[in-house]
Amino acid sequence: MLSQLDSLKTEALAALDTLSDEAALEAFRIDYLGKKGKLTALSAGMRDVPPDLKKEVGAKLNEVREAISGGLSTRQEALQAAKDAASVVGIDLSLPGRPGAGVGTLHPLTQIRDLAVRTLRRMGFTLADGPEIETEWHCFDALNTPADHPARNESDTFYLPDGRLLRTHTSSVQIRTMETVKALPVRVIAPGAAYRRDEIDATHLSVFNQIEALYVDKDVSLADLKGTLEFFFREVFGPKTVVRFRPHFFPFTEPSFEIDVKLEAKGKEARWIEIAGCGMVDPAVFAEVSKKRGDNLFDPEQVTGFAFGMGLDRLAMILHGISDIRHLIENDVRFLQQF
Ligand code: DAH
Repeated sequence: MLSQLDSLKTEALAALDTLSDEAALEAFRIDYLGKKGKLTALSAGMRDVPPDLKKEVGAKLNEVREAISGGLSTRQEALQAAKDAASVVGIDLSLPGRPGAGVGTLHPLTQIRDLAVRTLRRMGFTLADGPEIETEWHCFDALNTPADHPARNESDTFYLPDGRLLRTHTSSVQIRTMETVKALPVRVIAPGAAYRRDEIDATHLSVFNQIEALYVDKDVSLADLKGTLEFFFREVFGPKTVVRFRPHFFPFTEPSFEIDVKLEAKGKEARWIEIAGCGMVDPAVFAEVSKKRGDNLFDPEQVTGFAFGMGLDRLAMILHGISDIRHLIENDVRFLQQF
């Protein structure tokens, strides 16, 4: 029986080497290790082995079973490895991945806000903030806007039952900033939401976005304002952009201007588009802030300043030729994918 086991082992291991697919390996397993297989048949002979040899024959039986099943696993693994290798033949693992699959982009409004902030920060402006729920004083009175000004109507502004309101412009951050700063100069920008009771249409939303700027020091001039804004609009719309300052009225600046940029669309006549409001801070604003602060950091006789504000939605629309402001809040991927 011992020699029979040895020759079965030799025969089985030799047979294994010739097998080249999974079906053949499975047939081999059944043939040798299966219930009716050759090894099983031989081990039935244990019954007739004399007791003093049982131990030796038993050990041999185990050794042969392990050799055959070990050989089978090794062969299976080798075949699998060969299959894996065959399936990647011709694939260049050093090729770069395919870009763009499922990667999003920032919303066009976020992009324009970041560009505006980045550009103004390069000129020394730092970020400032204020609440969207404001007091009438911060939104209107301190900004020299009289009680009978149309913007203060119930029909134009969202009032809360307690008399506060949803800020109608980011200009309130000018006041919030001047109320709390400790020293000059003040050079801040404030991007954020503003609210108006407007009928919603292609150019109006009741919640929209603005960016505000304020620069106050001992001798800030109108030339500083012009230089800053001309640089800003050239950064946003391109180096050849032409900017025009048109006299206007705002309660909180004197003199005040509206700013137009000249846009030349291909094949069309150039047109002026109104894009922002600006001016030199009205001394009445400094006076009101000083009264609140109780000191003379913003003494209207000592300081001057400029301010400007503009709609970020409008900026994005002009820059990208977007015809309807509602696209900016509908989150239709077919629209957003273009940016
Ligand atoms: N707050 C004005 C608006 O919402 C825009 C504006 C005009 C801001 C003139 C300013 C400014 O800072 O100086 O229409």
